[in-house]
Amino acid sequence: METIQCIEGRRSVRRFKQEQIPEKTLEELVSAASYAPSWKNTQTVRYTAIYDQALIARIANEAIPDFPANQKTILGAPVLIVVTTIDKRSGYDRDGTFSTSKGTHWQSFDAGLSVQTFCLAAHDKGIGTVVLGIYDEAAVSRLLDIPEGESVSALIPLGYPNEEPHMPLRKTTDILLRIIK
Ligand SMILES: Cc1cc2nc3c(=O)[nH]c(=O)nc-3n(C[C@H](O)[C@H](O)[C@H](O)COP(=O)(O)O)c2cc1C
Repeated sequence: METIQCIEGRRSVRRFKQEQIPEKTLEELVSAASYAPSWKNTQTVRYTAIYDQALIARIANEAIPDFPANQKTILGAPVLIVVTTIDKRSGYDRDGTFSTSKGTHWQSFDAGLSVQTFCLAAHDKGIGTVVLGIYDEAAVSRLLDIPEGESVSALIPLGYPNEEPHMPLRKTTDILLRIIK
């Protein structure tokens, strides 16, 4: 697929076929994500892939308390990816102090770059994804036994699409782009 076609054609997919995603394919997606840029090449983003439907159901029921739409999306996914990031590296100097006035901001920035790369690679292979930001981080960490020093950055249900979502309106470049000559 052409790069621009992949970027423009990716949509958030919230309904999936039950067809399974091979582990090998997931490895390819995470490998693609490893090419994303990161703060001083620290590569702090980690992917946990959950196939266990009982665990997915527990996450939907115990870690998405007040948002039924996300519960439904997760319950319908053959695989749930939990994206975590290692704390206190991205945006930090070696002596443990912040490198910039933005503090911990760069940790999420790196996660976003990695996740978008992952999602574009998935789309290229005909696999649908949606980034979920509404979840109870403490509950997800507890259910997955996420190691101390890692934060949950996003959930990504994924699978072969069972819908063709329309494209939410995009702002035009006269709003998005400022050119200084
Ligand atoms: C940081 C972030 C958090 C998001 N959280 C959710 C979410 O909790 N639930 C959901 O259904 N979609 C979520 N989305 C998906 C957005 O709603 C979606 O990307 C946006 O509407 C544009 O649609 P598109 O991805 O199809 O282009 C999130 C996206 C991002 C980048």
